[in-house]
Amino acid sequence: MTEEMILTFDAEFHAVAWVDGKVAMLDQRLLPHKESVLEFDSCSAVADAIRLMVVRGAPAIGIAAAYGAVLAAREAYRTDPGDWLRLAVPLLAQLAAARPTAVNLAWALDRMRDRCAGLMGDPEPALLKEARAIHDEDQAANRRMGEYGADLIANGSSVLTHCNAGALATGGYGTALGVIRAAFGRAKLKQVYAAETRPWLQGARLTAWELLKDRIPVTLITDSSACYLMQQGRIQWVIVGADRITANGDVANKIGTLSHAVAARFHGVRFMVAAPVSTIDLATPDGAHIPIEERSPSEVTEFSGHAVAPPGCNALNPVFDVTPAALVDVLVTERGVLAQPDEQKIRDLLRPHF
Ligand code: MRU
Repeated sequence: MTEEMILTFDAEFHAVAWVDGKVAMLDQRLLPHKESVLEFDSCSAVADAIRLMVVRGAPAIGIAAAYGAVLAAREAYRTDPGDWLRLAVPLLAQLAAARPTAVNLAWALDRMRDRCAGLMGDPEPALLKEARAIHDEDQAANRRMGEYGADLIANGSSVLTHCNAGALATGGYGTALGVIRAAFGRAKLKQVYAAETRPWLQGARLTAWELLKDRIPVTLITDSSACYLMQQGRIQWVIVGADRITANGDVANKIGTLSHAVAARFHGVRFMVAAPVSTIDLATPDGAHIPIEERSPSEVTEFSGHAVAPPGCNALNPVFDVTPAALVDVLVTERGVLAQPDEQKIRDLLRPHF
């Protein structure tokens, strides 16, 4: 493919941004029906917004928390300029506790904490610079992953994605949807299937909205249709993002990812995980050690505020699952592609190069 034939598909909206000293977020709870931007000027309001999923998706949560840390430092410095760092510690802990599974949250806050060390005077300018760097680096990483991932996809392929791992879930462009954007731009894709992603419907509400906004045709399917389409030979790749990748290569991602991975292996469909290195957590040895978030049963028993189950019905709502590394054919990162990722390959990838 020549350079001229490559079209670029770019999301022109932002999940999170720093605007006039506040954290602005596109309220993802209201999409696709309403595009509403909320602004937050306190650290605890940002923590609540993450918990309530105004913003969601691992890298976007990390970026929101980094901007939230700027607000934490501002609040602490205004209260006591001489001892602001001590006052900021519980505020940062509040951000860290907002959601448990996506490691990008802790990763971004660790980086902001490291930047706090040794700051003299008003910490806000230096911390804002760091938060903006986290944001910009994530977007650049997505673009690199997009190209690396698209290289692997043969012309005429049909792909399935689960949840939303797009511009809405990241600093921009997306991880799994970055690969899909890049592959579509190179005219490689025959069909993009989005699994609706019960119960929060990230696939139906967010992925479909985001792709159609970019004029990338998408076909929505129920989560349980994926296996049947694979059996019919109608899907060549499953492409997903990740919330946490452990040292041995196990992948936590939106509930339902594991079913796609098992079905893909059974039917000889390739399974790609696209994630920045900020999603890799070497401190967690394997998937059994990942904290899996459980959300309210009402997300299962109700739909848009209307009951779909009889009163008194119990429901269980784990919102992530763990795909064993053995089911991952390729891990695409901004530093390169790992085929059949394992602990050795992951440690080599993360080893600093001088
Ligand atoms: O509960 P969510 O919507 O925050 O879950 C998001 C996912 O599982 C995404 O697939 C993951 O964060 C990767 S986003 C690039």
